[in-house]
Amino acid sequence: MIKKINIIKNVNNPKSIHGMFPYRGKMSAIDANNILQKLKISNKIILDPFCGSGTLLIEASKYNKEVIGIDSNPVAYILCKAKINIQSLDYEITNFEKIKKKIKEIKISSIPKSILENFHKKTANEIVSYAKYFNEMSDYNKGCFMGAVALSARGCNHYKWTSNIVGKKIKPFRYISFEKNFRNKISKHYFPSKKNIKIINMDSRILTKKIKKNSIDLIISSPPYFDALDYTSYHNKFIIDLLGLKKENIKKNLIQKLDTYKKSMIKVFNEIDYVTKKNAKIIFIVGDKKNKDGNILKGNNFFTSIAPFKKFSIIERNYSNTSSQVIDKINKTKRKEQIIIWEKK
Ligand SMILES: C[S@@+](CC[C@H](N)C(=O)[O-])C[C@H]1O[C@@H](n2cnc3c(N)ncnc32)[C@H](O)[C@@H]1O
Repeated sequence: MIKKINIIKNVNNPKSIHGMFPYRGKMSAIDANNILQKLKISNKIILDPFCGSGTLLIEASKYNKEVIGIDSNPVAYILCKAKINIQSLDYEITNFEKIKKKIKEIKISSIPKSILENFHKKTANEIVSYAKYFNEMSDYNKGCFMGAVALSARGCNHYKWTSNIVGKKIKPFRYISFEKNFRNKISKHYFPSKKNIKIINMDSRILTKKIKKNSIDLIISSPPYFDALDYTSYHNKFIIDLLGLKKENIKKNLIQKLDTYKKSMIKVFNEIDYVTKKNAKIIFIVGDKKNKDGNILKGNNFFTSIAPFKKFSIIERNYSNTSSQVIDKINKTKRKEQIIIWEKK
């Protein structure tokens, strides 16, 4: 049975902690909060096995005892740690100032291709200089560094990048002070959260290696999109290149190939079954997918057909003002999003 509820508006708050970095597939914190409040979930041990930039973790930690996040993408892991491990503002600013002093002496030997191709040369130099000191940055400052890279990318391209045209080169590139963006971010997103969040960088297809049997009250997650979104591209790619990580190695641990998607998600469901308590709830926020033949495959039909939990309810929502809606207009499709709530018996 499908219950219809509210229309999702574009509900972002760039000044919050979640405005730190435009992580691909990031959900709206205001929307996450609405869902958590409507579901009346409190005082539980919660796991998000695909936590991405940690939106649900931070929001759920406000109501719950213990929150655990898993993501196999190192960019997501660094970002979540940045939102969780926050020191005093004085400490964070001093950490930035110490690195700023060292920058003056550095000589640039090489700049990654993705940085050279998308930024003004002077901005690119500043970014690479700071990146050399990434390991000396506090966790929070690492996230602000990443956010400043993304913001400077948009700035160098005259702020013309929207979610639909990220990566389009708008030449001549404009010079943007990366240093200024970095410093501003430290003050702008300073919203320390509760200390009840644990984050693990691993593949959720093997999550029982780290999470105990029968230990979780509630799973809540927006799983990787089943039109196989690339979580190593766009802004994430700049970070991967700056940190000298290998995109191909990261991809091995990500569910993003359409042909193996079903098999991978069945594996995750089996792991979830093992770690959840009796009577646990499992909540997935999923979307529809447009097939090659133009037909729509409903997210709830796909997921309920592979999940081992048989009792469920579904809440369906429409998009409004989101980039997905723009894509739908172009494709003449009307995709929807569903919240599936399973109960484990
Ligand atoms: C839709 S995004 C989650 C976004 C998140 N709710 C947020 O607000 O940022 C899905 C996430 O699943 C992660 N992912 C994909 N395959 C994975 C796997 N095998 N194990 C763990 N995480 C995985 C991706 O890195 C991505 O961050």
